[in-house]
Amino acid sequence: MDYKFPVTRTTHPKARPEDESKLGFARYFTDHMFVMDWDEGLGWHDGRVVPHEPILIEPASCVLHYAQMMFEGMKAYRTPEGEILLFRPDMNAKRMARTCERMCMPELPEDLFLAAIKAVVTEDADWIPTSPGTALYIRPFMFGDEVSFSVLPAKHYRFLIILSPTGSYYAANDGGLHATRIYVQDKYIRAAKGGTGYAKVGGNYGGGMRASQDAMKYDCKDVLWLDAAEHKYVEEIGTSNAFFVFKDEVVTAPLDSGTILPGITRDSVIQLLRSWGVKVSERKLSIDDVIEGSKTGDLKEIFASGTAAVISPIGTLNVQGTDYVVSGGKVGELSQKLYDNLYGMQTGTVPDTMGWTYKLGLTVK
Ligand code: COI
Repeated sequence: MDYKFPVTRTTHPKARPEDESKLGFARYFTDHMFVMDWDEGLGWHDGRVVPHEPILIEPASCVLHYAQMMFEGMKAYRTPEGEILLFRPDMNAKRMARTCERMCMPELPEDLFLAAIKAVVTEDADWIPTSPGTALYIRPFMFGDEVSFSVLPAKHYRFLIILSPTGSYYAANDGGLHATRIYVQDKYIRAAKGGTGYAKVGGNYGGGMRASQDAMKYDCKDVLWLDAAEHKYVEEIGTSNAFFVFKDEVVTAPLDSGTILPGITRDSVIQLLRSWGVKVSERKLSIDDVIEGSKTGDLKEIFASGTAAVISPIGTLNVQGTDYVVSGGKVGELSQKLYDNLYGMQTGTVPDTMGWTYKLGLTVK
């Protein structure tokens, strides 16, 4: 379907961030956002691009009490020629559909989702940063805002897309890669079988904050979650999926337990590594084997993967106060190669051999 959305341009354009190399993650927001409503019996209606500004919400809206919400994370990039690219946006649409099904929220057709992204990114395309390591972070989200305290799916929803020129989540402010310290969480859990671990919902992250705050006491940026049943197998990192590079195998947690977020970067890393002839296993890996590998040197690298995190190397795991160093605490070779290739494809400086980039059909000089 050919969707057309009315656009109301802001009358108060914001000042642009002064130094693109010091953007941090989602600290600035662009001039416009996309908004659309869903009502029972009517479906999605009134999609529009409007100035980015605070929204009104009734205090009795069910999302504020029972958290019926979901979000996605994706990025837009500007190539050296000024062309605007998205990265595998169909995967976001498909993951969103799975999340909405889990949360009893209305389905958003893939073509409508893409048209909405396109409409708002087009308005703010000149906000897409070009300094090394930066991109325009796209945050689509949906919430139920029926005025109701019944613990039932809402009868009215809002869908918004907001945009933020951003650096990568764990990066230092120089656009380069740096190895991060991560705390291995042994007290709290993120997701159990049958829960919402595979869905992109705020509750998964809100529930993780106690753990990541505790991790900071050990000078760690985030946590590596272990499985809920045995506290034994590595699952994912606070904001991203986790990969463990052994001598002859790269390992990441399997998706079949339903406790792991099916990251689009995770899938891209697996496919890229396999295309380079690297053995990748989606299998259970115990924290004991990780520690042993760090002691013997068989574990060569650890890295996080995600839209926000991109590829974030991990140089140290802290387990109950003890540091286990990997890759000499530095950025590993494979992490760097993956970062260079993925970010290169995304920004159009490395040929996209996988057919992953999606041209918005728009050029900004
Ligand atoms: C993303 O990578 O897009 C995410 O949603 C992670 C976020 C929790 C920082």
